[in-house]
Amino acid sequence: MNDDVRKTIYATLIIFIFGVLVWVSFIFVNACGFTLTCKQGNLLVERTPMPTLVPATFPVVQPGNSVAVGAGQCRVAATDLLGAWVASGASETEAFEFTDINSLNCEATFTDVKPLFVDANLWYAGSRSCVSCHFTDLTTAAAQLDLSNYAGVTSGSRRVDAGSTGKDILGGGNWESSLLLNFISSNHDVPGHITSVPELVIFAGTPLTPVP
Ligand code: HEC
Repeated sequence: MNDDVRKTIYATLIIFIFGVLVWVSFIFVNACGFTLTCKQGNLLVERTPMPTLVPATFPVVQPGNSVAVGAGQCRVAATDLLGAWVASGASETEAFEFTDINSLNCEATFTDVKPLFVDANLWYAGSRSCVSCHFTDLTTAAAQLDLSNYAGVTSGSRRVDAGSTGKDILGGGNWESSLLLNFISSNHDVPGHITSVPELVIFAGTPLTPVP
């Protein structure tokens, strides 16, 4: 064997080993970057983005549980409260009377009624608020109905503009035949509407005679 052949063999070997080193470093840097503590091969640690002790959802409202709506001490089905308010003439400020589920005589005002339109997560767990669709801007509000305040609720639906009144949703004082009860008790295939009257009981109003 002469020197030339030997040189060629050595050169080939060196180039080969060098090539392998470059290739391995390329893969390493590609995956790990310039670090000596690459953890790419380690198993992933599954972590929730928030501490697990923080509840991930709002408190779930179970039908039959009472929800604190007004700061009252009387407990009443939400639809019965609305009904009593409508039957009494749907006043903005005057108190109206109702009988609560424990047969207490109670009174409430529109302040106790309003959260039923304005609060989300109230009629059932995760429910949208009525005002998320029925808001003040009548040009885009669903059914041109504004449930965000007293004037809106009593001005009705399908209104042409802010100054006009539309279709009375309070049944002219007759709750049972009102559009409001009708749309609360059936979803009418409207996304966001309630499927059936949930047995939602809320805290609202105050007892007329102090509780013994
Ligand atoms: C996701 C949006 C959305 C939410 C939330 C929503 N609505 Fe509606 N609502 C609509 C739409 C859209 C219509 C019109 C349906 C139609 O044209 O038949 C409607 C119609 C109505 C009507 C009838 C108006 C009419 O003239 O026909 C009433 C009353 C009503 N909603 C009350 C409520 C109440 C009360 C709530 C809350 C408990 C509520 N809506 C929540 C979208 C919504």
